[in-house]
Amino acid sequence: EKGTYPHYMLKEIDEQPLVMRRIIEKYRNENGELSIDSHIIESVNDADRIYIIAAGTSYHAGLVGKQFMENWAKIPVEVHIASEFSYNMPLLSEKPLFVFISQSGETADSRAVLVQVKQKGYKALTITNVPGSTLSREADYTLLLHAGPEIAVASTKAYTAQLAVLAILAAVTAQGKDLSLQFDLTKELGIVANTMEVLCGQKEEMEKIAREYLITTRNCFFIGRSVDYYVGLEGALKLKEISYIQAEGFAGGELKHGTIALIEDGTPIIALATQEHVNLGIRGNVKEVVARGANPCIISMKGLEEEGDRFIIPALHEALSPLASVIPLQLISYYAALHRGCDVDKPRNLAKSVTVE
Ligand code: F6R
Repeated sequence: EKGTYPHYMLKEIDEQPLVMRRIIEKYRNENGELSIDSHIIESVNDADRIYIIAAGTSYHAGLVGKQFMENWAKIPVEVHIASEFSYNMPLLSEKPLFVFISQSGETADSRAVLVQVKQKGYKALTITNVPGSTLSREADYTLLLHAGPEIAVASTKAYTAQLAVLAILAAVTAQGKDLSLQFDLTKELGIVANTMEVLCGQKEEMEKIAREYLITTRNCFFIGRSVDYYVGLEGALKLKEISYIQAEGFAGGELKHGTIALIEDGTPIIALATQEHVNLGIRGNVKEVVARGANPCIISMKGLEEEGDRFIIPALHEALSPLASVIPLQLISYYAALHRGCDVDKPRNLAKSVTVE
């Protein structure tokens, strides 16, 4: 039930801190340590390469998950769009493990890949919000998101739950391999939950940004480098699916290779700057687009902020910044759609589970 909320989407955005805390509890053992079924960890360790298969928002979560897995657990990861993978299967490694990320667990494009993979005798793990869903039943293993039912078509809390579960999977795998992380993930995820709460309390500010940049625009670009690019892809998907504004996410460095031609006077550009190692680069990209008339909205992280930034996210572990930085983008999309008179929870042409290929 949406209770006092005008829309499920807003309710589900607000549930993210609670979901984060629930995930920490669900993935803790009796000693308070993060833990995952040992069969799953063995399968991950046995693999010489992980193939993440997903669609839409879940694909965007996979892109961030690849960073966790490669940086922390030192296992190579490829992330693939399910619909492409089924007829464009790459040359596989000798011992692949397939990881399906799907909120609903019913996405037909992902299922088609799972069927192929099982026929070849490979192992599969499904990360899903729905116990007993098709992808869960047909895979060897399941990790649950524990996000509670997601009703709004635009996925919000499932995305951040996917990131958290992927982070836990990577961290527990790393521990099992004696690759010690330089931080305590439980503690850092707790900080993420607190930060999420702060961000969910900034709705008025997000509504202002939506009014200022998105009320009449035909298009909007999201730019970022490194994981900020992946969050930008997700921000763009959110905005286009519920507000029908043509929105695209781009890697900051890629703009000059073509997209910059689209910048006109007043074109809104939402730039993410949460990553120290690319801060200089993304700041340079903002200058390039501003010089062509763009109207920039810079969302940065505390410690990396510069004068003129529109919104500053409280500091948190840099690798986990996508769990927080996506929230302003979700809220901005929500208010943009609301003020443009769109049906926020049930956007045109979309269904919650896409059960056709
Ligand atoms: C976007 C959205 C879709 C889904 C995609 C995959 O807000 O909801 O892009 O992410 O259809 O769905 P699942 O995760 O259920 O496989």
